[in-house]
Amino acid sequence: MSQAAAFLLTPSGVCYDSTSFRVGATTPAMPHPARDFEGFIAKGSPEERLLSLIDFARLPRHIAIIMDGNGRWARMRSLPRVAGHRAGIAAVRDVVETSARLGCQVLTLYAFSLENWKRPRPEVDMLMDLLREYLRKELRTLQENNIAFNVIGRVDELSPAVRSELQGGMEATRGNTGLLFNIALSYGGRAEIVDAVNRILAERGRSGAARAPVDEAKFASFLYTAGQPDPDLLIRTSGEMRISNFLLWQIAYAEIWVTETLWPDFRRRELLQAVIDYQKRDRRYGRVGSEPEPVSLSPGKVTA
Ligand code: FPP
Repeated sequence: MSQAAAFLLTPSGVCYDSTSFRVGATTPAMPHPARDFEGFIAKGSPEERLLSLIDFARLPRHIAIIMDGNGRWARMRSLPRVAGHRAGIAAVRDVVETSARLGCQVLTLYAFSLENWKRPRPEVDMLMDLLREYLRKELRTLQENNIAFNVIGRVDELSPAVRSELQGGMEATRGNTGLLFNIALSYGGRAEIVDAVNRILAERGRSGAARAPVDEAKFASFLYTAGQPDPDLLIRTSGEMRISNFLLWQIAYAEIWVTETLWPDFRRRELLQAVIDYQKRDRRYGRVGSEPEPVSLSPGKVTA
C-alpha cells in the first residue's frame, strides 16, 4: 500500500502519515499581519506600482503554480535541461518570499509529478539533489519569513535521503504561522484522489464505523491538502494550456492565469500582475454575475 494511504489525524487537526510527514497541515487562523516590503520592493519600481494596485482584503488565499518551461529555457541557451531546473530555483525563492510578504495563506508549487519519474535517471537525481540543496540553503529564509514548509504527494516513493531532508525542513518550520508552502513531489491529482478513497476504506475497516455517505467536505478531509483552503488562483508558466494532473479536486473553482514566461524567468512582478488580474475576475461559482440584475432582458443578453 502507498504510504500516502496511512495517515493519522492528530487532535490538533494536523495530518501525519505513518512516517510523520505532515501532509494535511492546518492553515493559520489569522491572515499574515506583516506587509513589510521595505528593502524587498524598490521605491519607484514597476513592482511598487503593481503593489499599490493590490487589494489586500481580497488576496487569493491559496496560489498554486505549475512551474513549466525549464527545459525550453535551457535549450534556448544551448544548455543541458538540468541547467534550466537549477535556474528555476531563483524563481522559486522569489515567489515564495513574495507570497509570504503579501500575506497569502498557502502557496503550492508543482515540483515533481508522478509522471516525472519516467524522465532520464540523471535528470531525476539532479532534481532531487536540487530540492535538498534548496532546503539546506533556504531554511533560514523560511524561518525569517515565518513560513511553514510542507510536502504533498506519494512521499514513500522518494529516497530515504530526500525524505529525511524534507522531514527536517517540515519539523524545523512546523511552528511557523505565516505562509504554508507546499511542495508537490511525486504528486498526481488522480493518485491523490485514489489515496483518499483508500484511506476512507481503511478507516472504515479499522473503526467499523457506520457506512454513512461521504460528502464533499468529508472527502476533502482525506486529501493531502486537508484543512487548507482550495487554490483561488492557479498559475501556469510557459504558455501551456493544461492542468497536468495537478490538484484536480482542489482547483474546481480556481481562476487560471497562464503566462508565456518560462519558469526560470518568472519573478515577483508577474506574480503581482497575476494577483491583480485575479482580483478583476468576476467569480460566480455557477451563479449569475455580481453585476445588478437587469430589470428586463434585452434580446441576446447573456446572464450566466
Ligand atoms: C517543468 O519544466 C519543471 C519541472 C519538472 C521541475 C521544476 C523544479 C524546479 C524549478 C526546481 C526545484 C523546485 C523546488 C520547489 C525547490 P520542464 O522540464 O518540463 O520544461 P520543458 O517543458 O520546457 O521541457
